[in-house]
Amino acid sequence: MPRLVIVSNRVNVPRQGGNAGGLAVALEEALETNGGLWFGWSGNVADERVQPPKKTVHGRVTYVTTDLSRQEYEEFYTGFSNSTLWPLFHYQLGLLEVSRKSFGGYLKVNAAFAAALATMIRPDDLVWVHDYHLIPLGEELRRRGLKNRIGFFLHTPFPVPEMLVALPGHRRLMKALSAYDLVGFQTPDDVRAFIEYVVGEARGGVGPDGWITLYNRVLRAAAYPIGIDAGAFARMAAEAADAPETRRLLASLHGRALVLGVERLDYSKGLPQRFEAVERLIEIRPELRGAYEFMQIAAPSREDVDRYRALKRQLEAAAGRINGRSSEFDWQPVRYINKSYDRATLAGFYRVASIGLVTPLRDGMNLVAKEFVAGQDPSNPGALVMSRFAGAARELKAALIVNPYDIDEVAEALGTALTMPREERINRWRSMWGVVSGNTVEAWRNAYLRDLSAGAELVRGKETPAAADLAGQSPVDGGIGPLMRHPERRPAASTGLVG
Ligand code: UDP
Ligand code: G6P
Repeated sequence: MPRLVIVSNRVNVPRQGGNAGGLAVALEEALETNGGLWFGWSGNVADERVQPPKKTVHGRVTYVTTDLSRQEYEEFYTGFSNSTLWPLFHYQLGLLEVSRKSFGGYLKVNAAFAAALATMIRPDDLVWVHDYHLIPLGEELRRRGLKNRIGFFLHTPFPVPEMLVALPGHRRLMKALSAYDLVGFQTPDDVRAFIEYVVGEARGGVGPDGWITLYNRVLRAAAYPIGIDAGAFARMAAEAADAPETRRLLASLHGRALVLGVERLDYSKGLPQRFEAVERLIEIRPELRGAYEFMQIAAPSREDVDRYRALKRQLEAAAGRINGRSSEFDWQPVRYINKSYDRATLAGFYRVASIGLVTPLRDGMNLVAKEFVAGQDPSNPGALVMSRFAGAARELKAALIVNPYDIDEVAEALGTALTMPREERINRWRSMWGVVSGNTVEAWRNAYLRDLSAGAELVRGKETPAAADLAGQSPVDGGIGPLMRHPERRPAASTGLVG
């Protein structure tokens, strides 16, 4: 295997503390075994001018990070990446901000990254660029004469062309994508949306062998659903069951079932709708009052973007409203926590949760859902309530699949999950664990890199089931067993749901 060069906006330099994003977590696991170079933003904003890149070596991996100037941060990061591409790629056209200035800044930072990186790349390196921040990077590297195989992986969804064309620079961006040899997406739906643009908007083509012609370049596109290090996560969760934080959490629940949500505080995650669904649950299942608590961990994220600050205020108000209206002197339905936890702590929380509530309005994959599955006690697992609009819903078909916009449906699914018999929970969990433990982050990396380096004939996106699959899925996937009148109670010292 040639040397691997990974480029992503966030770089998880060891001992500088990680960050909460799924991308950083996945790549760290990938590079630990492969070795190579990881290039990206340092996370620092320099007041005056960009400092020279900083190099750190850890074992087989060299980390090179560069600062952004204040202007670059505003135009490239909070601007075009997170106020234009992020909402657009998550189907939130109403939040789309269009600015030529920020698009210019985005292109400039990509060119600057490419200039810094080009000198470090050897002729036989495999270059793997990640996510929406860096779409033009491959094109900039080519401009500097690089002939290497260069791949791109998009961690977010890819919008259908009808939405993408709302972006004034859509052609420029798609032309940039054509500079890659392999463009990877999370799901076949994303691949299909990409190909629809290629054929319908860019007048490119797809040959019978799967090769795509786009703006005079030939490339491939396929779906590579990202996974987690399932075995390691399961072990971490089993160990964390006895950790002091987990014990404190359990003790604080007084035997109530824990309904757990964990995400970055992001409007793509459907948090206001989720809070509403919990409120609806209180109304429609009064007999369950006092039998559960909903705990939402919302890790601070992109706080320099107005929309994120507004969401924070909205959630604070929602949590206060629900608790104000529905609490009793000995029961409070909502715990809203605006802070991030490390994954080992989260693993213990997943372990003791009765329900994982994962209801994004759109999500490329959603690793939290996979971590929740891996974190369960196999003999007494919790149930997963999962949005059909997350990439993970494609794989976790044994979850209770819901439409996150349909508040009643989510509330009903919560009621079903809270009263689900243990046997059904075990059956559903086994099916989900089969997927999560099979399609690991290692399998994802290997599949992508094999195709990037060898030029496989396959275009996997074309082989996988059509969108009709999802469209035809019932709100609650699979048969529901007889409902019990009260949720099972967990003795304070045990882990997993009591049964
Ligand atoms: N995460 C974390 N601490 C937190 C919240 C989240 O470490 O307080 C991690 C979580 O365990 C998962 C990742 O952040 O690995 C989130 O990835 P996901 O794909 O669910 O969403 P993203 O943040 O990439 O949109
Ligand atoms: C998502 C994106 C990543 C990003 C992460 C955290 O996972 O796909 O590219 O790193 O969110 O967001 P942040 O803006 O803090 O990097």
